[in-house]
Amino acid sequence: MSSITEFVPGIRYVGVNDRTKSLFEGLWPLPQGVSYNSYLIIDRKTALIDTADGAFTDRFLANIEQALEGRRLDYLVINHMEPDHSASIAAVRRSHPEVTLVSNAKALAMVEGYYGICDAVLEVKEGDTLSLGERSLLFRMTPMVHWPETMMSYCPEEKILFSGDAFGCFGALDGGITDRDMDTDRYWDEMVRYYSNIVGKYGSPVQKALEKWKGTELRAICPTHGPVWTEQLPRVAELYDRMSRYECEPGVVIAYGSMYGNTEQMAEELARRFAARGIRRIAVHNLSVSHVSYVLRDIFKYRALVVGSPTYNGGIYPPVAALLEQIGERNLPPRPFACFGSFTWAGTAARRIAAWAEGVKWPVCAAPVEFRQGYDRAKAAGCDALVEAVLAQME
Ligand code: FEO
Repeated sequence: MSSITEFVPGIRYVGVNDRTKSLFEGLWPLPQGVSYNSYLIIDRKTALIDTADGAFTDRFLANIEQALEGRRLDYLVINHMEPDHSASIAAVRRSHPEVTLVSNAKALAMVEGYYGICDAVLEVKEGDTLSLGERSLLFRMTPMVHWPETMMSYCPEEKILFSGDAFGCFGALDGGITDRDMDTDRYWDEMVRYYSNIVGKYGSPVQKALEKWKGTELRAICPTHGPVWTEQLPRVAELYDRMSRYECEPGVVIAYGSMYGNTEQMAEELARRFAARGIRRIAVHNLSVSHVSYVLRDIFKYRALVVGSPTYNGGIYPPVAALLEQIGERNLPPRPFACFGSFTWAGTAARRIAAWAEGVKWPVCAAPVEFRQGYDRAKAAGCDALVEAVLAQME
């Protein structure tokens, strides 16, 4: 085993990269791919932690065989049943009929439901441990991080947490496995995007999960996606804590739709005025161009949100409505929010956005700025009041 793959003596990385899939869950872009991480513990007993996406089963099985070096596989620990990690369970069982599947009752019911396997299983509960010889695994239930069956496994002898989706990020592993072996710069924004897209609805369960591990000595966190965190573990833990508390940096997202550039010009004008008032973090997204995945990432990063829409078919422009729906699903607490829009013969979009905001308990902090037909600077007169109201709420 290379020292890259065996990043701790007796703990070997056997995951795979996916550089083919364009949309994770059929929804979220993967411009830099994604890794499906899996780990093999070699002790008197051997234990595999999670599996990999079904498109990569053959590569994954080959990695396991190489890492086992002829040993039998005693346990497969299933921390999470989403098929990006569970789809190779049946293949592992076929290759290693001796293996015992280890997980909680909810996950084992899903193993049967997805893969028809219900024999040779070991059910574990909160606080149970499994001895592997010199090492052991302690299991803690962490429901809704990211599915209800989710649990995490901790090896106290090595001080390593196998955390499932928590602390994971988009982006394949380009050679290195741990943060010691790579430049991690490109992963930070991808961690926020992954969190906001995949786990963002579950801030409270993430907080409960973090609380369970508070005070636990950690030498490494091994998530199911992205790098193994060692040296930069404090930064990752802090980022996760902040994201799950929905804490944001001072900054503004301006997200708009525009058919012919009029609403867009007001978005540009608002961005200039925020910049003129000293705001340095401003993210402007044309929702016909920016994938909602990136807009959600920035909404999780920056404190204020301003949304603009032309009136379309008597309502909100569809890409804007789609963003509002995604925001509404994520249980985000109130934040400085304002809206603007344009129309040709009857204006309803800005009013409907304001009504949406009231519905999700994000009261608009300024009257919607709406204008008729072509944009000119005179029609932006209401923008100053909007900017000042947003800034007042950001303090
Ligand atoms: Fe990476 Fe929720 O699966």
